[in-house]
Amino acid sequence: MKAVEVKDLTFSYDQETNAVEGVTFSVEKGTYTTIIGHNGSGKSTVAKLITGLLEKKSGSIVIDGLELNEDNLRELRNRIGIVFQNPDNQFIGSTVRDDIAFGLENHCVEQSEMDGIIEEFAAKVRMSDYLNHEPTRLSGGQKQRVAIAGVLAMHPDIIVFDEATSMLDPQGKEEIKKLINELHHDRGLTILSITHDIEEVTAGDYVIAMNRGKVAVCGTPEELFRDTDRLKSIGLQLPFALQFEEELAKQGVKISRNITMEGLVEELCRLNSNM
Ligand SMILES: Nc1ncnc2c1ncn2[C@@H]1O[C@H](COP(=O)(O)OP(=O)(O)O)[C@@H](O)[C@H]1O
Ligand SMILES: [Mg+2]
Repeated sequence: MKAVEVKDLTFSYDQETNAVEGVTFSVEKGTYTTIIGHNGSGKSTVAKLITGLLEKKSGSIVIDGLELNEDNLRELRNRIGIVFQNPDNQFIGSTVRDDIAFGLENHCVEQSEMDGIIEEFAAKVRMSDYLNHEPTRLSGGQKQRVAIAGVLAMHPDIIVFDEATSMLDPQGKEEIKKLINELHHDRGLTILSITHDIEEVTAGDYVIAMNRGKVAVCGTPEELFRDTDRLKSIGLQLPFALQFEEELAKQGVKISRNITMEGLVEELCRLNSNM
């Protein structure tokens, strides 16, 4: 079953050039898919189109088997949530509680149920102790966790993270990565994560590489990394471990994936003595 099916999607901001053109891909339910590509390749535009924040010029977007259109926009926007890059741009309320409540109020949740729901989702992102705090005074990682709680309270099946960790310090990045992994593994959510972090790509089930508004490669991380020429042609680098492996291969050293540290040191010593 597909969570997201995008066919021949095209969009233009200025009605002249297409920011996204002929984009086709699909995402299986329950999988973790990353989207990579250099700046301006159209990743955020795709994210906004599939979450109904921008209206397509042509093509089709199907979420959970339903074609996204004006009539079901509201319903489908509950099924697919989005967390943006800048945590400061996603706060409306004066307390964490207000912020998590915001989406719920828009969805006609009874006042009597509200507190319970807010507390449940604050606990899921480990922010229960901060419900009466001002969102602006939280750390970046905490702000993103509150944003995620707000999205989770809508009970989505799919969450899109648009570089949600890129503005965070290393600790904040770790907090959010851990939470995303929990949402994926423990709750079975479908994750679509736009990232610059090539290491995150290796951890995903599938990857979509974008270049100049189009899908350049769509497949497993292994398939993407095997095609090194293609990867270089779209301005992307191999993950560090694979670059290392490639450099060693050029020197005639072949290392297997399950090489031990001792084995690696031995190979490097052998290489050194041959030089
Ligand atoms: N609000 C906007 N108005 C006009 N052009 C935009 C806007 N947002 C993005 N673009 C343009 O659309 C293209 C794709 O941008 P974007 O989807 O943000 O790429 P990415 O997220 O991969 O960096 C770029 O050429 C960018 O300049
Ligand atoms: Mg972007």
